[in-house]
Amino acid sequence: MSDFMTLAALAGEEEMCTRCPLYRSATQAVPGEGPRGARVMLVGEQPGDAEDLSGRPFVGSAGRLLDKALAKVHLPRDECFVTNAVKHFKFEPRGKRRLHKRPDAGEIDACRWWLTQERALVQPGLVVAMGATAIRGVLGRSETVARLRGRLIDLDAHAKFLATIHPSFLLRLQEEEDKRREWARFLSDLEVAAEWARAGDGMQMNA
Ligand code: URA
Repeated sequence: MSDFMTLAALAGEEEMCTRCPLYRSATQAVPGEGPRGARVMLVGEQPGDAEDLSGRPFVGSAGRLLDKALAKVHLPRDECFVTNAVKHFKFEPRGKRRLHKRPDAGEIDACRWWLTQERALVQPGLVVAMGATAIRGVLGRSETVARLRGRLIDLDAHAKFLATIHPSFLLRLQEEEDKRREWARFLSDLEVAAEWARAGDGMQMNA
């Protein structure tokens, strides 16, 4: 059960969050986005510069790559609930630029309360954690992507869990061979989610 009646009410409260210091320098909180009742929830790390300015998750370069991957595996983004483990942008000012800084365990754990509220409202049957921050946000403990990735795990009585890399990992790779290999692995992880959504429980998508 969520403390909130609607996703809009939840987003309004997230905007006023002071659970950790990140709200002080971010432009705004970036709530999750997507239909209530989405069968798949995709969890990223935290908003980046573009998301902080627009107020929407995954609209920058990592988001464009995610969109491309979702299209490849035929998992429509607009049928998923897309959110982040941490709702405020953490950065270090460098001249006119704002350089992404990874949220620490305390910030992830403070923000977990919001992720739990989102889950309670949306009630996804599958939660996909992209990267180590998302894994901690969802599971409440640190685990490596390498140990968990690519397989469906029971999260609780109601939902499955799938871990994969964060799409920004792909953007940092330099070598063409590494890019090709890691892109294929990312697609194969997402294919597990897409297949789950198409089969069994997932048949109720949009029901
Ligand atoms: N990276 C994330 O983890 N989330 C976003 O919303 C954008 C980039």
